[in-house]
Amino acid sequence: MRMKAAVLHAYNEDMVIQDVAIADPKDREVLVRIAATGVCHSDLSASKGKSRAKLPLILGHEASGVVERVGSAVSKVRVGDRVILSWAPNCGQCFYCQKRFPTLCDVYGFAAGRGGLWDGTSRLEAQSGSIHHYSCVSSFAEYAVVPETGCLPIGEDVPFEVAALVGCAVTTGFGAVVNDARVEPGDTVGVIGVGGVGINAIQAAALSGAEMIVAIDINGDKEGVARSFGATHFLNPNTCDVTDAIKSLNRGRGADSVIECTGRPTAISAAYDCIRPGGIVVSVGIAGREEMVALPASTLPNTQKRVAGSNYGGGIPERDFDRILGLYRAGKFDIDRQIGKRIALEQINDAFRWLEQGVLARTLVCF
Ligand code: APR
Ligand code: ZN
Ligand code: ZN
Repeated sequence: MRMKAAVLHAYNEDMVIQDVAIADPKDREVLVRIAATGVCHSDLSASKGKSRAKLPLILGHEASGVVERVGSAVSKVRVGDRVILSWAPNCGQCFYCQKRFPTLCDVYGFAAGRGGLWDGTSRLEAQSGSIHHYSCVSSFAEYAVVPETGCLPIGEDVPFEVAALVGCAVTTGFGAVVNDARVEPGDTVGVIGVGGVGINAIQAAALSGAEMIVAIDINGDKEGVARSFGATHFLNPNTCDVTDAIKSLNRGRGADSVIECTGRPTAISAAYDCIRPGGIVVSVGIAGREEMVALPASTLPNTQKRVAGSNYGGGIPERDFDRILGLYRAGKFDIDRQIGKRIALEQINDAFRWLEQGVLARTLVCF
């Protein structure tokens, strides 16, 4: 089958909208017609070569759609199902899956490293040759072939745009707070970076009963949106000392947890300064491969501070998708307001530029 897709041929260059051949799904794979796909910061970083993704490549990993065709051994989804795509489909069998770290699945790691599906090969081809998959999704295209476990059915009532955002930003921010920081009622929580991910961390902290939620962003325009999703305070590191400000808010103690959603090493060390003894920094943002973080080593034992990495919300995405959609349906978790511009695939390069300039809500490509 042939389809229209946005192909990245070189880092730091615009993607090219072109005709691509997509192969039939193999035994345990599914062909999905993409309905909506968000433009996430990880796509932007990958387009600049920060994750060293193999080229040529079809980006896009925050997506929803409809099952169009299934491989011969597929049992979990049927043609016509409305689905969210997971960007870390797991095998359920390997060391990490058995250890209940499905987002670290060995089989997925192999696939993502190769830029292919689970057997390491691609289903995408242009006249110039094979095209790589991105995180087993590649949704900046009319169709995607994905592993069966990367396809999670949703009900008829969830809009495709909402479902797409649950596929990355929402689950990542929500899980960082609920699964990793384990925010408790009365907590003081800092969230650095009020972007697609940070907004969901703020909202999840409010839902978890945090008393003070301090949003931190170098873009002062983010204050309104941060407060509207539940932040009780807003700090701009360019105009104040964030550590002092947080400490002065809760009698010199510091935050119980800080969720770092920018991927800047300096923000990780600032987060470490902001937490109280026994508190936790949850690192969500992805830094460049060569970047290092400096921490005052001697303080680690006596303050019992913890620094934890969080990938895809640190939990079991399949379980968390359902949990989040339950909260959304009950009117407790607002995803509708996170939807910004809806664009056609042809505008994808503009969407990358808007993200770089700090748009306030998520841009979605809708088909
Ligand atoms: N201090 C505070 N805020 C910052 C800083 C900083 N040093 N640098 C950037 N920011 C803010 C930006 O102003 C923006 O509001 O961080 C926010 C980032 O938001 P998005 O660009 O929407 O990024 P998002 O999609 O939320 O992803 C955040 O998580 O998934 C990873 O790769 C992704 O590293 C990225 C991070
Ligand atoms: Zn993402
Ligand atoms: Zn596995």
